[in-house]
Amino acid sequence: MVLEETKIMNDETVDLTPLDEVLEAFRDERGAIIPILQRTQEIYGYVPAEAIQHISKHTGNSVAQLYGVATFYSQFYLERRGRHIVSICDGTACHVKGAPRLVTTLEEQLGIKAGETTPDYRVTVEVVYCLGSCALAPMAVIDGQVVGRLVPDKVSKLVRELE
Ligand code: FES
Repeated sequence: MVLEETKIMNDETVDLTPLDEVLEAFRDERGAIIPILQRTQEIYGYVPAEAIQHISKHTGNSVAQLYGVATFYSQFYLERRGRHIVSICDGTACHVKGAPRLVTTLEEQLGIKAGETTPDYRVTVEVVYCLGSCALAPMAVIDGQVVGRLVPDKVSKLVRELE
């Protein structure tokens, strides 16, 4: 998934206009915190602090309640992520077939550690554990696409080609 960059301005101000449409859609459903947070994350790629404040103001749920939900479910991200998400599998099958070398390659190439995002928000690299495609080990998911039987040069090239 490539994010719609327009929702986060270059100076990192969050444009809350699209969120108003979501809040309007859920206006009569006070308990709809999860779907509102899901839509928020679809818009911005994460759940910005500004959005939490805005949702709180319009739904009557406290900021603490909203953070409580957002931090309870691992599907929500509270930090801005990259336009491209590279998830390297380091489950057992992928690990023994060289996943750690893939991770190290990307860390060196991008100058970040696994779990981090490049300063220009181009790429986030994360390590995940068994995505159910062990026959393709070592594998990764790049922007939602499964890529199997990776070697360092290949993953490096694929990531370099991400715009
Ligand atoms: S261990 Fe990587 S897909 Fe199963």
